[in-house]
Amino acid sequence: MQYDFTSIIDRHGKDSIAVDPEMTNFVSFAATKPGFSRIPMWVADMNFATVPTVQKAIIDRAEHPAFGYFAPREEYYRAIIEWQERHNGVKGLTKEHIGYENGVLGGVVSALNVLCSKGDHVLLHSPTYVGFTGCITNNGWEIVHSPLKLDDQGIWRMDFEDMEKKIVEYKIHATVFCSPHNPCGRVWERWEIERAMELFQKYDVYVVDDEIWSDLILNGHRHIPTQSVSEDARNRTVSLYAPSKTFNLAGLVGSYHIIYNQYLRDRIDKESSLSHYNEMNLLSMYALIGAYQPEGYEWLKQLMCVLNENVEYAYQFVKTHFQGVELARPQGTYMLFLDCTEWCRKQGKTIDDLLRAGQEVGVLWQDGRMFQAPCAIRMNLALPKSLVVEAFDRLEQYVFHIS
Ligand SMILES: Cc1ncc(COP(=O)(O)O)c(C=O)c1O
Repeated sequence: MQYDFTSIIDRHGKDSIAVDPEMTNFVSFAATKPGFSRIPMWVADMNFATVPTVQKAIIDRAEHPAFGYFAPREEYYRAIIEWQERHNGVKGLTKEHIGYENGVLGGVVSALNVLCSKGDHVLLHSPTYVGFTGCITNNGWEIVHSPLKLDDQGIWRMDFEDMEKKIVEYKIHATVFCSPHNPCGRVWERWEIERAMELFQKYDVYVVDDEIWSDLILNGHRHIPTQSVSEDARNRTVSLYAPSKTFNLAGLVGSYHIIYNQYLRDRIDKESSLSHYNEMNLLSMYALIGAYQPEGYEWLKQLMCVLNENVEYAYQFVKTHFQGVELARPQGTYMLFLDCTEWCRKQGKTIDDLLRAGQEVGVLWQDGRMFQAPCAIRMNLALPKSLVVEAFDRLEQYVFHIS
């Protein structure tokens, strides 16, 4: 079946901060000038309808009129085990290794609660996903950033020397590793993960491994699960997954961890049970089961064709038309991360000027300072291609034309 990734769905009034950001108090955008529609290119959800089997699974279940206490069905675990095997080549995963998480960030916090004392330092790469910054600082831990560096091919790389220096200096025993990396779009190669994990083994650093983006891998790249690179990695890593990025289900809430190390698993399960909040929602369970069906595998294949096309279009457009804006070619995710330092310097503009100019013509792009990058912008490309084209045309005509 051919799924629809070209229709522009009207999400206004349908509980979407992407198109109605006034619903939240954590972002504000410049007012859009009359005559321009708003194109949502910020928060990490997609302007596509999810695979119909998700709706069907929820509706079928909702037709039964009792919604009492429940435990996850065997199908839930089977769906995850098959997904992990087919997408990530995972062998030997059983139900006992899988645990529900009320959001990946909730899983990060539960794991760090086990691994860290208050005030401990946690190693992160920068640029950094804004959610990590929030949940780590809110809970009283200190972030130590190890900046990623662009190599001579324009690929973001870890700086292993810097990581080692900081691990030693700050006595670090926990890291949050984002694979693939948001916002840089890196899909780490096996040797890179191996080298990072060797370092973590050497200094006994436990790894909270966020693989929420691992289904969204662009052409020519392959996701390597962190736990797969060695026996030690399998035992020192808490891996977090969700169908939410892949199938646009963030509003339904529902993630899961894979933890092979029984000591860690028992402690994290205990920790996350303490609030009595970490409980699965019945309909979110059906959403995952509906997504991880044969139709979901096919839908994702078609989605990736669309994302590949959008990312390539946007990447080439920036390279060709926005002189002074630097960017790495994304390898995964649907985010583009623009370094605007040189452009702003040449034009005598601030990043606020640039952000405002785009937002005024309806391009709702996102301030890179949230991601620890002083003069950068993150753009979400998970939209029908016609909207991506429209957004870049507006940026060229009204924002970057002066360069
Ligand atoms: C790397 C990363 N982790 C976690 C999340 C949020 O996950 P959740 O909503 O399950 O907490 C996001 C959302 O954009 C993300 O990019």
